[in-house]
Formats: sequence, C-alpha cells, structure tokens
Amino acid sequence: MEAIIDLDAEIAKAAEDAAFSLIGNDLLGKGYSVRVNSLPHSLADLLNERVVSISDSSFQTAAIGPAQNTMQNNFVRSQKLKWITGDSDASIQWLSWAERLQVHLNRSLFLGLFSFESHYAHYQPGDFYKRHYDAFRGKVGRTVSIVVYLNTNWLPTDGGELVIYNGDDDKKGLKVMPSYATVVVFLSSEYPHEVLRTNRDRYSIAGWFSTNTSIASRVDPPE
Ligand code: OGA
Ligand code: MN
Repeated sequence: MEAIIDLDAEIAKAAEDAAFSLIGNDLLGKGYSVRVNSLPHSLADLLNERVVSISDSSFQTAAIGPAQNTMQNNFVRSQKLKWITGDSDASIQWLSWAERLQVHLNRSLFLGLFSFESHYAHYQPGDFYKRHYDAFRGKVGRTVSIVVYLNTNWLPTDGGELVIYNGDDDKKGLKVMPSYATVVVFLSSEYPHEVLRTNRDRYSIAGWFSTNTSIASRVDPPE
C-alpha cells in the first residue's frame, strides 16, 4: 500500500516551524519579536469565535497583585479578562500551540520554560493598560510574555496599540497595532509596555511562560 501523506498537515507543520524559528531568532537577537500573521488563521478564527462568545458576566475585571484596590486598578488597567483553562476546543488548541512554542524556545534558546498561563482579554472602548512590567528582574517566575491579537480589520484610528519600550529610559517605544493573528513575544522583565486607549472592542490573549519556580527557589538564596 502507498503511504498516504497529508499534505495540508505537512504544510501547516512547516509553516509553524518557520514561524517559531523567526520568533526564536528575534528573541535571541533583540529580546522581543513582533510577527504579523503568525498565528495560523484556522486557530485565530476559532479563538476569535470563542472570545466574542464569552458573556460579559463571565469576564472578570482585571486586578493587580494581591491587594485588589479597585480605584487603583481602574487607574492602571481597565480591561476584562478570563483565564484559559482548556474548557473549549479553541482553548485546548491554543494551549497546545503554546506548548509547541514552549518546546521550540526551550530547544533553541535553552530557556528552561516550565509552565504556561494565559487569559483572554476584552478591552472595551475607553479601556487601556498603563505602562508596566510583567515580571521583575532577579525574580523567578514569568520569563517570556506572549500576546496574540484577534481583531479583524484594525485601523490606525481604532487606537489600542501595544507600545513596547526598550527599558526604563525609552519614552518613545515601538507601537504595534492589535491586528488579527499578530503575535508579540518578549522577555517579561526587560520590556515595559502599555496598551493605549482603544476606540473599539479589542480582543487579545496574553500569556506567560515561566521557569520552574520550585527548583529555582531551592537554588536561589531565600529572600
Ligand atoms: C498584559 C498585557 C497587552 C495587550 O496583559 O499584561 O500587557 O496588548 N497585555 O493585551
Ligand atoms: Mn503586560
């Protein structure tokens, strides 16, 4: 019998390997990566369908840190979010894509990424997220941040750009439109970033790859 080759699957795999390599090389060379059209559209379609179907009441209002001071939170960030647990086909496929990226980054950059957490985010008109770091230097935990965008036909007048700053002294930053299937990856403790006020509903997934905190905390001197 002839071997049956699933050409579509082979092509998808090659495209994924190529996308992961570009992201890995960017991370290695400059510490961040902005790649338009890098999330496979089949996956982006599923995730878009999923995120717009989540009812407003099952999103939670974003909170920072353990002390959930609402007034302060509204000053820093105002989007709504929902942690991804793998309770839908879309989420399961997303987690599996992220895991393959994690394996790729560990193989090519020896990052020792061990776990992944992510949430859907919905920014309504007027929402923003002020400049912040996802992690702090010298602390174990979040190492690589990823954001993917699920918005079709984003226009410059829609606002809502992600601005990535090259460290504390950078005031200008690099503006990224939250366009469909754009993937942004950066080292969590090196790049402060913000989300400018959006003029239309803006959907994204933000995720974080972490190193193994249990091993690291045994190696690190206790604080
Ligand atoms: C975050 C974040 C950026 C975005 O959730 O920490 O920076 O563009 N998100 O949604
Ligand atoms: Mn962030």
